[in-house]
Amino acid sequence: MQIVTTIVELRGLLDSARSEGRTVGVVPTMGALHPGHAALVDRAAAECDTVAVTVFVNPLQFAAGEDLDSYPRDLDGDVQVAGDHGADLVFAPSETEMYPAGRDRVLSEVRVALLSDGMEGAQRPTHFAGVCTVVAKLFNIVGPANAYFGEKDFQQLTIIRRMVDDLSFPVTVVGCPTVRETDGLAMSSRNVRLSPDHRAQAPVLAASLADGAAAFADGERSADALVRIVEDRLADAPDGQVDYVAVVDPATLEPVGVVDRSSRLVLAVRFGGTRLLDNAALGDPPRLAGGSVS
Ligand code: PAJ
Repeated sequence: MQIVTTIVELRGLLDSARSEGRTVGVVPTMGALHPGHAALVDRAAAECDTVAVTVFVNPLQFAAGEDLDSYPRDLDGDVQVAGDHGADLVFAPSETEMYPAGRDRVLSEVRVALLSDGMEGAQRPTHFAGVCTVVAKLFNIVGPANAYFGEKDFQQLTIIRRMVDDLSFPVTVVGCPTVRETDGLAMSSRNVRLSPDHRAQAPVLAASLADGAAAFADGERSADALVRIVEDRLADAPDGQVDYVAVVDPATLEPVGVVDRSSRLVLAVRFGGTRLLDNAALGDPPRLAGGSVS
């Protein structure tokens, strides 16, 4: 396992790997790796000859007042997890290596219109341009054949797929199922910020998705009706403030009226200062404990 901090060294290593005919896979992360990230590394290691995990807390995707400074950082732990799950190298550049002119002087930006405006984008208008800009840059640095992203961040996955299509990146985007705690809560680096009381209420997100999927399985096809079912279950959590619940088309992220197997149920709920996201495909059997909902 190698830890690489410069673009030039990373390119050298991966050029040699490619010249030996090895396929390169990348798992972009912001570190603080948990089993959700590890599952992406497992999948990459199963499908690619050389796996690079990138660890970079990207300032471009945080707005002023968000948690950039307090975002959890643990490079030693990340290297351990990445290595244990079959990564060959960790790319952990400094901010200066990525943005030599300074984070406020990055003049080129990749923005996927429309898809970036709703859902998370409504709360965080500059967020997805920051994500796309760094992911485009990481693709240009790593040159992966495959790139692994979690369905946990469904809007992000959809936007990156669209960016890759629109700009013809020679990269296959692989979406991976959400990894959950045994009570259903989707794993996230930010879950540690929940108070014990809020943590106890948080499984309501997965439970509400399961209710929605169960209603779909019973034949409900009205998006409004499904949203009401989900909202009813979310109301069981006294401290959960619902930001949005919607049933959307998985490619356009537009709300649908009539639901089909491909529709995605998406939601965001705030507990105190912590926003939790979750989503599920409606065509899948609802599953609450452990495993995945995707
Ligand atoms: P980060 O939040 O560290 O997530 C890195 C990857 O792990 C993302 O693709 C995310 O969807 C996936 N992931 C997180 N929790 C997961 C879970 N419980 N199950 C499955 N996958 C999970 O997302 C980012 O970083 C950044 O925006 C990034 C793409 C790296 C750009 O900076």
